[in-house]
Amino acid sequence: MSHRDGIAIMLLNAPRKNVVRLARAGAVFLVAALVICAAATPSLSEGGLAPHLSTNPGPANTLGGQSSADYWRQIRQGQSFTLVNPQMGPPVLVQSEGQDWRIFRNETIKRYGGYLILAMLAATILFAALRGRVRIEGGRSGRTIPRFSQTERTIHWFVAAVFIMLGVSGLVLLFGRTILVPVIGKTAHGALASAMLQGHNLLGPLFIIGILAMAVVYFKDNLPRSADIAWFFKGGPLFKWHVPSWKYNAGEKIWFWSAVIGGIALSGSGILMEFPWLAQNLQQLQLATIVHGIAATIVIGFAVGHIYLGTIGVEGALEGMTQGQVDENWAQEHHHLWADAASDGPSAASETAPAE
Ligand code: HEM
Repeated sequence: MSHRDGIAIMLLNAPRKNVVRLARAGAVFLVAALVICAAATPSLSEGGLAPHLSTNPGPANTLGGQSSADYWRQIRQGQSFTLVNPQMGPPVLVQSEGQDWRIFRNETIKRYGGYLILAMLAATILFAALRGRVRIEGGRSGRTIPRFSQTERTIHWFVAAVFIMLGVSGLVLLFGRTILVPVIGKTAHGALASAMLQGHNLLGPLFIIGILAMAVVYFKDNLPRSADIAWFFKGGPLFKWHVPSWKYNAGEKIWFWSAVIGGIALSGSGILMEFPWLAQNLQQLQLATIVHGIAATIVIGFAVGHIYLGTIGVEGALEGMTQGQVDENWAQEHHHLWADAASDGPSAASETAPAE
């Protein structure tokens, strides 16, 4: 082979070698790129914070198309991860309880809470239909005795007013999407719900002050006494006979304790929801929303019955809370033990009633 042929062959071979070199370089580049991409785009990192996440998250800020079946399987098996995407704000803890919580909050509490409130409404209507208005049977005597002091009445109406506003706004937040959206549409509901949320957050702290004051002021007369058992066995207000009771009968005491215990649960869980940084972890916040929903529906359910009995249900009851005085016959018929002691002076009726 001549020198010239050698050069010719070299020239001929040159492109092939270049192609091979190019292919090798390309393969190395591809592998390097894959490794870099894999390292730079972990969507979830175990226990710690991942540096980067999908810029196109799926519904409810999930990973959408970039989710990894393995990660989700591990999450369902109890493993938790922290999900980070600067565009989505602070890191989000992803754990299986999140989905359980969502179902419990959005379906179970809504459904059974709704049933409970409707059941209390139905029971109140049934009671009203069967028993009718509970009249003062002996008629009004024309003489009155003091029942509630100015302080007791102020606290009661303060709590009642705040509770009703919180109850209405809370019900809009819980059931609005189901009940109101089909009626008023998404835009109007969005504006309403946002206003209700502001009002709810603003009134919450006032309710806490009110319910604590109520707990202190009404506590002593709501302690259980043996007369309460007899009141239950004799059917409370269901029948026309009068069952003797002290300042509050057993039904009222149950209402008091439900309002106070429910109110404290609502207050504690509400504080955590309003100031989430006070919670130690996400599970605490999830628990708070569940406790809040359950306590709210129970107390609202009881409140329906209380408001009926306090207004039209029992003749002569409302004036005790508006004017502070009740008719003597009303007192004798509903709170005989208290009324007898009251005739010896208010302190005998309320504070130093003899032990049974
Ligand atoms: C419009 C709403 C309300 C009305 C008309 C109303 C009416 C009344 C009336 C008339 C009484 C006196 C009963 C008696 O003399 O034995 C009373 C007592 C009471 N109310 Fe209300 N109330 C309302 C809302 C509320 C709310 C929202 C709460 C608590 C969250 C509440 C808690 C109480 C308590 C604790 C008592 C004293 C009974 C006891 O301690 O067992 N009330 N209410």
